[in-house]
Amino acid sequence: MNITGNKILITGGATGIGLGLAARFLQENNTVIICWRRESALQEAAASFPALITHKTDLSSEAERVALCNWVREEHPDLNVLVNNAGIQQWMSVTDEDFFTRAKEEITTNIEAPIHLAALFAKLPSVNTIINVTSGLSFVPLAKVAVYSATKAFLHSFTLSLCHMLKQANIEVIELIPPALNTDLGGKGLHDHAPPVSGFVDAVFEQLKEGKTTATYASSETRAKAGPEENNAFFEQMNNAF
Ligand SMILES: NC(=O)c1ccc[n+]([C@@H]2O[C@H](COP(=O)([O-])OP(=O)(O)OC[C@H]3O[C@@H](n4cnc5c(N)ncnc54)[C@H](OP(=O)(O)O)[C@@H]3O)[C@@H](O)[C@H]2O)c1
Repeated sequence: MNITGNKILITGGATGIGLGLAARFLQENNTVIICWRRESALQEAAASFPALITHKTDLSSEAERVALCNWVREEHPDLNVLVNNAGIQQWMSVTDEDFFTRAKEEITTNIEAPIHLAALFAKLPSVNTIINVTSGLSFVPLAKVAVYSATKAFLHSFTLSLCHMLKQANIEVIELIPPALNTDLGGKGLHDHAPPVSGFVDAVFEQLKEGKTTATYASSETRAKAGPEENNAFFEQMNNAF
């Protein structure tokens, strides 16, 4: 991917990793549109980065996803990059009363939304790059976020196929694989132990500049490259520690 001169839409771009990527893409001379849901998050992001173009969308709504794509077609016909970054993480047990309701929310946001947006945006003639944000948990699940981990395994698998499917359309598909990072994912404080987003963003941009289509960082590099025996052993170690 050429990292300058693009017009990029980042879902969930008002906070965390999405905002880190948005800030860096602005710095590298791109036009960046973020789609957001919570007003308070948007206000903070827009105050820090006035160059951001912003658009409100609840990605859990199929109609709003279609409306987002129609808005881009009308207002930003030169948009060439979609970043499927938005996601939610539910810490829960299968025995919880509300398990299935919350699982469906995760499946809608983490699977249905990115695959629907990929299908919608791949049809826009200007789009030449789709970036999906998966996770180190795509490779080894954490049982306390079992459905989340499975949604990321799904998205990792879908991203491999998407890359293959879109080759003939000349759309490059890129996977960003963050390890645990210090954001509010899953709720405030749950990721305070993890490293800051900035190191991950630096690593992503180094790898994009090298022309890589998969970007890893720290432990996600290990997980993505490990064989099944090593990952099975890590599953026991990680799940016993949590
Ligand atoms: N942080 C980590 O440890 C980590 C590790 C691996 C992968 N990831 C992945 O990285 C991505 C970004 O997460 P993050 O860590 O940066 O957490 P975050 O700060 O909570 O970011 C998630 C973003 O998604 C947005 N979002 C969620 N549901 C939405 C919906 N229905 N409609 C519109 N926007 C919605 C959120 O907006 P609102 O806040 O307004 O709802 C928020 O801006 C996610 O896909 C996550 O799975 C994170």
